[in-house]
Amino acid sequence: KINTCIFDLDGVLVDTASYHFLAWKRLANSLGFDFSESDNERLKGVNRMSSLKMILDWAGLSKNENERSLLAEQKNDWYKTMIRTMNSSNLLPGTEAFLEELACSDYHLAVGSASKNAEAILQKTGIRHYFEVVVDGNMVSKSKPNPLVFLKAAELLFVDPKACAVFEDAQAGVEAALRAGMKVIGVAESANLLGAHGYVTGLSEMNIERLESIINGTPL
Ligand code: BG6
Ligand code: MG
Repeated sequence: KINTCIFDLDGVLVDTASYHFLAWKRLANSLGFDFSESDNERLKGVNRMSSLKMILDWAGLSKNENERSLLAEQKNDWYKTMIRTMNSSNLLPGTEAFLEELACSDYHLAVGSASKNAEAILQKTGIRHYFEVVVDGNMVSKSKPNPLVFLKAAELLFVDPKACAVFEDAQAGVEAALRAGMKVIGVAESANLLGAHGYVTGLSEMNIERLESIINGTPL
């Protein structure tokens, strides 16, 4: 029986995926390179340094460790400027209603995010209090698709990974959740997310009844 929901942050709870994309794109452009929105799908869910390495790889550029940390810092500065004025209006549709429903039904709730900005974003958008546990990019060294971020959340909640359902918009995140032995609900507008147990286009389509039907393999 599923009694725990673990949410990815960027692109699932909060509308930040496009800001990450814009900031990475600006960085790539400053290096004389460009990448498309479909390339960007591969960066979703991946931590900052690994994302940078992928972009440099695509560009065929090699940078030393010091240069890489300066570039990552530059991207994060641009990103932080974009999210500075963030508030509850930046929550994705349905986020608060679904969290409220789960909280009222005694589900354990956690965030499992690659982002080092997760705590700040949860505070700004006013949803921090829903989560017993927030595992973010400051707590795990290995990036999704490594399952560590989700396993750590289950461990801190003292729940079995098999009792967890993960909500993810990134391919790397779906893989991480599957490797953790958890159920996965893909949150995506398009059909480019593979391997999840069920899909919704956003949390506004979610409620406990739908969650249970996806988990039990009896889609509504
Ligand atoms: C993930 C995003 O949630 O966090 C990625 O999907 C992002 O796009 C990663 O690169 C790391 O975020 P941050 O805020 O630590 O740079
Ligand atoms: Mg995401």
